[in-house]
Amino acid sequence: MNATSVFIWSKLGCGSDFDQLARTIALHYGIDPGRASEALNDFVDHMGALGFVEVDDASEASQLRKRYLDLLKSALVNTLYAEHELRIEWLERHGAGTDIASARTLRDIRYADRKDFAELLACKADGRNWKGRVTRFSHTMVGMRRLQNLEWCATRVFSDGVAGDFMEAGVCQGGASIFMRALQVAHGEDHRRMWVADSFEGLPSRAQTSTRATSSKKLVSPGSRQRWRRYRTISPHTAFCRNGCIFFPAGSRTHLKARQSKRWRC
Ligand SMILES: C[S@@+](CC[C@H](N)C(=O)[O-])C[C@H]1O[C@@H](n2cnc3c(N)ncnc32)[C@H](O)[C@@H]1O
Repeated sequence: MNATSVFIWSKLGCGSDFDQLARTIALHYGIDPGRASEALNDFVDHMGALGFVEVDDASEASQLRKRYLDLLKSALVNTLYAEHELRIEWLERHGAGTDIASARTLRDIRYADRKDFAELLACKADGRNWKGRVTRFSHTMVGMRRLQNLEWCATRVFSDGVAGDFMEAGVCQGGASIFMRALQVAHGEDHRRMWVADSFEGLPSRAQTSTRATSSKKLVSPGSRQRWRRYRTISPHTAFCRNGCIFFPAGSRTHLKARQSKRWRC
């Protein structure tokens, strides 16, 4: 980057209002505000296309959508109640004590175990395992950055008018696809379908992969459906797939002629 780009980049780094930044640039370089605005626009467009800069419009609807999606990401990665994970881990190590010292440690665990807490949050940001264990207590293991990446990709798909549905193959607890459905809805793109594919009972054995599912009750685990309901993302546009079968919520209208497709109650 040249010196001008570095200057703009340093201002963008902390989040900035476009007009305010154009004025700062005009003042800094002693140029006409219109010219500064034009140059800034080109720079932001270019960086936006590369995914380095996110542009929000200032409308109330856009701000509310951003707040909803940010809160949803925190809920799915479980940064909202991250202390509970620390508490469970502490209880697993020390057992449940009824003495005052244990009760205090559990209550104030983020201060008692500052280092662990910081490391847990860092793992959640990157989608890394904490203490060598796959995350057990959040609704997705992909972490905050990958959810942000999904958001960027989906927003780009919407703004470029790329047609088509979304699918997650291997959903586990479902958090990432719950987020993708929320993105469709929040951006008024809810005519798209969200395909949710998994065995819903862990990695299938070699024998299982070649057999067809037989019991419709077992097809989508109740836990998965419940999570979709909890996040209010269940809709007729959500289709669960297991072992080659496709399950649409009751009431959905689908034109797919899948031989094995069945319906389940929302
Ligand atoms: C690592 S987890 C996925 C994590 C998830 N994407 C998230 O956001 O947390 C892998 C998932 O893939 C599923 N899976 C792996 N192989 C599969 C297969 N052959 N058929 C169906 N599901 C499979 C497992 O059941 C498991 O839920």
